[in-house]
Amino acid sequence: MRAFVHERYGLPEVLELRELEKPVPGDDELLVRVHAASVNPFDWHVLTGTPYLVRLQGGLRGPKDGRVGVDYAGTVEAVGAAVTQFEPGDEVFGGRDGAFGQYVTPREAGAVAKKPANVSFERAAAVGIAGLTALQGLRDKGRLQPAQKVLINGASGGVGTWAVQLARWLGAEVTAVCSTGNVDAARELGADRVIDYTQDDFTRSAGEHDLMLDIPGNRPWSECKRVLKQDGRIVLVSGPKTNRWVGPLGHMVSMRLASLRGSREATPFVAKMNGGDLRLFAELMAAGTVTPVIERRYELREVPAALAYVGEGHARGKIVVSVA
Ligand SMILES: NC(=O)c1ccc[n+]([C@@H]2O[C@H](COP(=O)([O-])OP(=O)(O)OC[C@H]3O[C@@H](n4cnc5c(N)ncnc54)[C@H](OP(=O)(O)O)[C@@H]3O)[C@@H](O)[C@H]2O)c1
Repeated sequence: MRAFVHERYGLPEVLELRELEKPVPGDDELLVRVHAASVNPFDWHVLTGTPYLVRLQGGLRGPKDGRVGVDYAGTVEAVGAAVTQFEPGDEVFGGRDGAFGQYVTPREAGAVAKKPANVSFERAAAVGIAGLTALQGLRDKGRLQPAQKVLINGASGGVGTWAVQLARWLGAEVTAVCSTGNVDAARELGADRVIDYTQDDFTRSAGEHDLMLDIPGNRPWSECKRVLKQDGRIVLVSGPKTNRWVGPLGHMVSMRLASLRGSREATPFVAKMNGGDLRLFAELMAAGTVTPVIERRYELREVPAALAYVGEGHARGKIVVSVA
């Protein structure tokens, strides 16, 4: 099978499209032929080995595994002996290392769900990390309730475009913050109010909210707390990537510590891939309640270009890869 691998950390040029042996699924695994994948900033971190913290898991001297890509959608080709819920021919989506290649082997109990027939492979591949981050950030970490007010900072990227739709589905009143070119799109996704960060300082003009989902993490606590009610909270998805050692983590920890002095709360958050939440996405997408925003499409051989684009930090919605 063809798959992208890298033997050292670096920019997309270090990636090579190689012929590898087709994997054999373990007893509790599925063999999935990938049809579409999507790109996340996470893939960029894995590729470049930055911040250096990611090397603790990915390999200190160089990438341990070498395969890249997480979010995929495809068709089950074979199943391990202990698999009971899936069979060859099932169309599935989820997250598993190596999605920028022709086969992945997710565990049945891991992050994999059946794809609804009326949802395309590329749309299903666009859920993964970004969709689950938006869902878990709003619903679980943010405990967003119907009729509450939520501000989504960074509403135009992969996480943000899912978050605007999910916040509406949860019954909240949504303020979206994005740049000029994305204002109309945010409104079309269902935002009640959109603030263009190039024109307005949202921390002064937005008013108070129950929850802020902070996706870029580009503002300090002293400014962010102005958009929160007395008992409001910020869920911190990311932060500036300037620190080469810990990346956004430094900002997230300092926000958390600063918030301990008052009634408002800042909580760092890392999403978890799980099958239950993917099944919820399957239901919501089948019903047309939510749908991914797909900005660009690339072929498998163009994965380095797709990663370079996401690495620039201005994707509008999701970037998908067709894996023929
Ligand atoms: N904690 C977790 O579990 C978790 C999970 C997923 C992602 N993340 C992190 O969350 C971040 C976003 O991920 P993503 O998938 O949404 O990335 P993405 O698809 O690359 O989106 C980037 C978006 O950020 C917007 N943006 C950049 N600067 C901004 C600013 N100053 N104010 C508001 N928006 C701004 C850009 O819009 P403009 O072009 O309009 O500026 C662009 O639409 C990344 O840092 C990623 O590593 C964390």
